[in-house]
Amino acid sequence: MQNYAEAIKHFGENHATGLTFVFAAGAGLLALRRWMAGRVCRSKVGLEGKTVLITGANTGIGKETALDMAKRGARVILACRDMTKARIAADYIRQKSGNGNVVVKKLDLASLQSVRDLAKDVQENEERLDILINNAGIMQCPKWKTKDGFEMQFGVNHLGHFLLTNCLLDLLKKSAPSRIVIVSSLAHETGRIHFDDINLDGNYKPEISYCQSKLANVLFCRELAARLQDTGVTVYSLHPGVIRTELGRYFFPTLALWKRILLIPFVMLIKSPWEGAQTTIYCAVDESLANVSGLYYSDCAPKMPAPQALDDVAAKNLWDLSASMVGLA
Ligand SMILES: NC(=O)c1ccc[n+]([C@@H]2O[C@H](COP(=O)([O-])OP(=O)(O)OC[C@H]3O[C@@H](n4cnc5c(N)ncnc54)[C@H](OP(=O)(O)O)[C@@H]3O)[C@@H](O)[C@H]2O)c1
Ligand SMILES: *[C@@H]1O[C@H](CO)[C@@H](O)[C@H](O)[C@H]1NC(C)=O
Repeated sequence: MQNYAEAIKHFGENHATGLTFVFAAGAGLLALRRWMAGRVCRSKVGLEGKTVLITGANTGIGKETALDMAKRGARVILACRDMTKARIAADYIRQKSGNGNVVVKKLDLASLQSVRDLAKDVQENEERLDILINNAGIMQCPKWKTKDGFEMQFGVNHLGHFLLTNCLLDLLKKSAPSRIVIVSSLAHETGRIHFDDINLDGNYKPEISYCQSKLANVLFCRELAARLQDTGVTVYSLHPGVIRTELGRYFFPTLALWKRILLIPFVMLIKSPWEGAQTTIYCAVDESLANVSGLYYSDCAPKMPAPQALDDVAAKNLWDLSASMVGLA
């Protein structure tokens, strides 16, 4: 009978090329994983005495962003639609950061009344607002409408944040230098604004609506930055990466099983929520961006967005359309 040492040696000889291949492939995958993880925000800046408001902060990258802001010593407001989930997240953030100054406030971006109520609460009860992070988002849901009858993804991802931001501008200006960070997506690159059918009533396709809403985010950033020149309020939009969060909750169940199985090898290339929060954090705090406004970022660096995101006429038209939809003068 062969002993183990011999058997193992024999195996090793026979499988040397196989093992080398496995090692090389493993190292390659790890390198790819590292590369996909992207850069991290290196700024150590503290936020003591500052107030940060983050929408959709109960889960995903919003929660990681909130935790980072709390660790920097800020007063952190989690603006969320589900109070139970928000309180659980707030407890977690207080515990992990050791910062007790973390509060939750109700915000349903699919209701203009809820947006106005939250803005009023913040204006009346907060002394300042240094960083507003428009992070909440919904992706590729069925053909749903917001309370006010807008298509859900455009309504939540863009219109709700458009109104919220405008309602908080006075407080942001009063707290200047202050920042507005808008979480968009690479998906804006295939988007266009359907000015003739903004709610896509004629032909609703979940992915087309998502891309439209994320393009609206980048255009809003550009137009807002132009309007806020010389106010000390700067604006940033960004792509956070492809991240393991709950964002695919409506999208994945619609995929055929074989498509889901094909996606499995890519799972390890997906960013963690902490990695996915880095570009948002960078835009919110990095000192080097203090005098920059209106640009788009990815992996903690400026990035050229798609041409349709640089269209100033579209940005202006989108502003006017949004203002009339949400009832802003
Ligand atoms: N994950 C990615 O790969 C990826 C890629 C590109 C861009 N993004 C962008 O990153 C942002 C954050 O997404 P995530 O990946 O962290 O997704 P997520 O885990 O699904 O978190 C989304 C957050 O938005 C909230 N939200 C949804 N509808 C809302 C509403 N009507 N009112 C208030 N809050 C609402 C959710 O609240 P509930 O928990 O109550 O539903 C949740 O807190 C989004 O803007 C998304 O477009 C993500
Ligand atoms: C931004 O501008 C202010 C005022 O002009 C200046 O003091 C500061 O050094 C600038 N910061 C950066 C990072 O350029």
